[in-house]
Amino acid sequence: MRTPLIAGNWKMNNTVAEALELVECVKTRVLGVKRTEIAVAPPFTALYAVGSILKNSNIRLSSQNVFWEDKGAFTGEISPLMLTEIGCAYAIVGHSERRQYFGETDESVNKRIKAAIACGLMPIVCIGETLAERESGKAMEVINTRLMGALRGIDQDGIKNIVIAYEPVWAIGTGRNATPQQAEEVHRHIRVLIGDLYGPAVSEQTRILYGGSMNQENAPDLLSQPDIDGGLIGGASLKVGSFTAIIMAAENASL
Ligand code: PGA
Repeated sequence: MRTPLIAGNWKMNNTVAEALELVECVKTRVLGVKRTEIAVAPPFTALYAVGSILKNSNIRLSSQNVFWEDKGAFTGEISPLMLTEIGCAYAIVGHSERRQYFGETDESVNKRIKAAIACGLMPIVCIGETLAERESGKAMEVINTRLMGALRGIDQDGIKNIVIAYEPVWAIGTGRNATPQQAEEVHRHIRVLIGDLYGPAVSEQTRILYGGSMNQENAPDLLSQPDIDGGLIGGASLKVGSFTAIIMAAENASL
């Protein structure tokens, strides 16, 4: 039985004041949530303050990225150690916006994942195809390349500390989510691939989240698919009502 995970990716949104207000509201609304793991990924400036409020709560802290060295001359980067020190449990790695705008590659994603795991930080590894790739029938091929690239050199123990997020690029921030059937097809494919690499027991334990315009309306159908184990939520995680409704949908789907 996999514990569902609903993670809010706030991207470059919310000042510290706004972040605290949002997370305080979410925290009180989800007090009764028992079966679903919840995480929020504020921007770096708000991580420490949000983390302080989340201590002893059922919401875990995530960063939106992580570097692969512990310290040194790497202007603008944040190390795994710095993140675990302030209570981060998760780090989003390889988000398509990082790949598209900041030159992230399968190779750099792989390095970030390895460094995160070594430090006890669980990477949420994002993979997904563009619209052009889907329309030319290459979606599964792209998924294979992204996944194999991300997992290169990661062993049986490592994979147990990784969460995968399937995020079709054409669905991110567009209001056009993958249908539950489209998403399930790719999630199933990812699980089979992980089974080929690490065996069926590991693949049955690996959590695979869906991300891309998930909202309170489409969440119940998406989250009730057998291989969809939660969501990585962008826009809808910035509003208390929609984010908590998605969390409740995960709670209900896991009954
Ligand atoms: P979205 O973003 O929910 O706004 O589509 C998801 C993501 O980018 O993780």
